[in-house]
Order: sequence, then structure tokens, then C-alpha cells
Amino acid sequence: MSATEAMNTNAAAAPESTPQVGRVPGVRIVGTGSALPSRTVTNDDLAQIVDTSDEWISTRTGIRSRRYCDREQGESELTLARDAARRALEASGHTADEVGICLVASFTPAAATPSTACLLQRELGLAEDTLCLDVNAACAGFVYALYVAASLLEHTPQPLALVVGAEELSRVMDFSDRSTCVLFGDGAGAAVLERAADAPALTATWGSRGNDEALFAPGVGSVDEAGEPRPSYLTMDGRAVFRFATEVLPKCTSEVLQAAGVDASDVDRFVFHQANKRIVDVAVRKLGLDPARCAGNIDHTGNTSAASVPILLDELVRTGALVTPARVVMAGFGAGLTWASCLVEVASS
Ligand code: ACO
Repeated sequence: MSATEAMNTNAAAAPESTPQVGRVPGVRIVGTGSALPSRTVTNDDLAQIVDTSDEWISTRTGIRSRRYCDREQGESELTLARDAARRALEASGHTADEVGICLVASFTPAAATPSTACLLQRELGLAEDTLCLDVNAACAGFVYALYVAASLLEHTPQPLALVVGAEELSRVMDFSDRSTCVLFGDGAGAAVLERAADAPALTATWGSRGNDEALFAPGVGSVDEAGEPRPSYLTMDGRAVFRFATEVLPKCTSEVLQAAGVDASDVDRFVFHQANKRIVDVAVRKLGLDPARCAGNIDHTGNTSAASVPILLDELVRTGALVTPARVVMAGFGAGLTWASCLVEVASS
């Protein structure tokens, strides 16, 4: 076993660590938005190209369909981010000139540089003094970005941060690998975070384990240890990720509740990363939560990585399933291996 293999094996296992806890007073979410691309791909569609079935995919994952960008229609990670962000700003009742921070969580940006955040700044006409930054923490990225934005908000003249999760995962799928290509979809979700003296605190916990074996997606010119080019698509050890996810999701959820001094029964909604319905079911069982307060949307989105938490949050708000103002716990986990959770107020808009 090479040193890297040993490191990965240990990292994917479960070293004990003290949770990192952050608390930012006076911030709340005041608007949400989301955007799914136009092309719907059903399980039966995928069964035309790999050896799979609707029965296998839906019972093992809860997924029935997902959306892919239609490049011919000009859809991309950036256009999804733009549409989600516009909807979130509109829902907040605020305008672009009140935004001082623009963070985009993604591991499928169109380019290594400029960041999607900078391109989104242009699309939305945000001011030059906006702090624009991409955050890569894979499926935990939106929750990471929310905490980073909240922490920075006290240092900006403008009162708002725009936090977006956007992915075009169909670009990094291996459509000959049935164990990965059935899982993922494209999409974007966004939230407008407001600094306000009368808002409660946002509490967050996070962590990561250096591991590039359980889940890997290539960057520009990625090479392996021998200097050979790495495949240009996402690879994953599904069982290792499943074990990791069912360990950290309940753990970081209970840690954030404990850190905030809040009982689970006082939380209006749990918004968990939609990677696999079975992962959420295990976490809900371990935490003893009411499944109705943890319901997801993976059936029609698939796993949209950093976009999944804000897409679900927005769907809950727009369908009235989340009655605002509400106290919400969000949690994500993914490649890195990373995880993060936060407790935040979602205001009426
Ligand atoms: N259709 C039919 N059969 C399949 C498919 C498919 N799409 N995929 C795998 N199989 C087969 C396997 O080949 C295997 O066959 P075998 O027993 O003959 O070898 C069998 O099904 C069982 O495979 P498992 O991997 O044990 O299936 P499992 O029940 O673990 O489900 C899954 C696989 C869905 C990938 C699960 O492990 C999982 O959800 N893992 C977590 C994945 C995840 O959350 N990833 C995203 C993290 S977020 C991020 O950062 C991007």
C-alpha cells in the first residue's frame, strides 16, 4: 500500500475530532431562488445507455429523474447560477447594489479562472467593490459558503451577501459507468443573506478529511502520482462514501444543535444534502427526527452537489412547505471529504 493509499484509507475511516463551531450574530436569509435546466433525463432514458433500470435506481437512491443543461439552448453552470441568484434577489425585495459579497459554491465551474463568482458579478451588474469568490467544498460547499459569507458580512459596507450553489455535473459524468452516471444532475440554488441587528445568530460546524480516493473529479490537466493524465470524469467508491455520509450527516447535525443550544423539536425544517434518499433516511433514524420535517426532492433532481441544499430550501419556501420565518438546519457532505452544518433563520420575504 502506497503512502497516499494509506492516508486515504485512514482519512475515509473515522478519526475522532473536536467539532469546529462558529457563531455569527445578526444574520438571516431573506430570499431564496433556484434554477433547473430544461432537459429532463429519466431513469428509463439512462437505461438506454447503461445496464441499469428504473427499479434499481429508484429503490437504491430515491432518484426518478434529473435535469441536464442543454448546451444548444445556451444553458450552463453560469446561466443556472444567474437565474437562481436573480430569483433570490427578487424574493428578498433587495437590489444588486446592496450586495457586497458574492460567493459561488461549485466543483464544476466552466473555467478554473475567472471564477464563476466574477462572471456572475458581471451578469448581475454587481458593484466593483463586491467580494467575489468561488468555494470548492463539493456537496458541503453551499453550507461552507454560507458560513464564510456570514463571517465576512460585518466587514462590508453593503448589508447583503449572495450565496449560490451551482453545478453542471453532466459535464464530468462517465456515461459508461452505471455506478456514477445515474446519480447526478445539474442545477443551481441561491440565498440572500442579510446583516441585521435584530437577526438571530447563524451557528455552523464543519470539517474535512484529506481524501482523494472516495470521490474524485479532475481539474485542468490533472495527473496521477506517476504523472499520467487522470480520467476526465468523476470517479467514486460508492460504498465508502455511503459509510462516510451516514456517519457525518447525523454527527454534524447533532453537533450544530448542541452548539446552538437548540433542541431538534424547535427546528422547523432540516434541509439535508440530497445525495441518496437512503443516506438521509439513515440520518433521520439515527437522530430520531420526524421524517416529515426532513423530506427531500432527490426524486426529480438527482444529486446536484453544492446546489442541492439551496435548491431544496427554495422549493420548500416556494411551495409553502416551509412557513417563514423559520428556523432551519442545513447540512452537506461530499468530496474532500468535507461536511458542514448550520442553523439559520429564514425570514419572511
Ligand atoms: N444499475 C444497476 N446495478 C448497479 C448500478 C446501476 N446503476 N450501479 C451499481 N450496480 C450494481 C453493482 O455493480 C453491484 O453489482 P454486483 O453485486 O454484481 O457487484 C450492485 O449493484 C450493488 O452495488 P453497490 O455499490 O453495493 O450498491 P449500493 O447499494 O451501495 O448503492 C450507491 C450504490 C447508490 C452508489 C450507494 O453506494 C451510494 O449512494 N453511495 C453514496 C454516493 C454519494 O452519496 N455520492 C455523492 C457524494 S456527494 C459529492 O461530493 C459529489
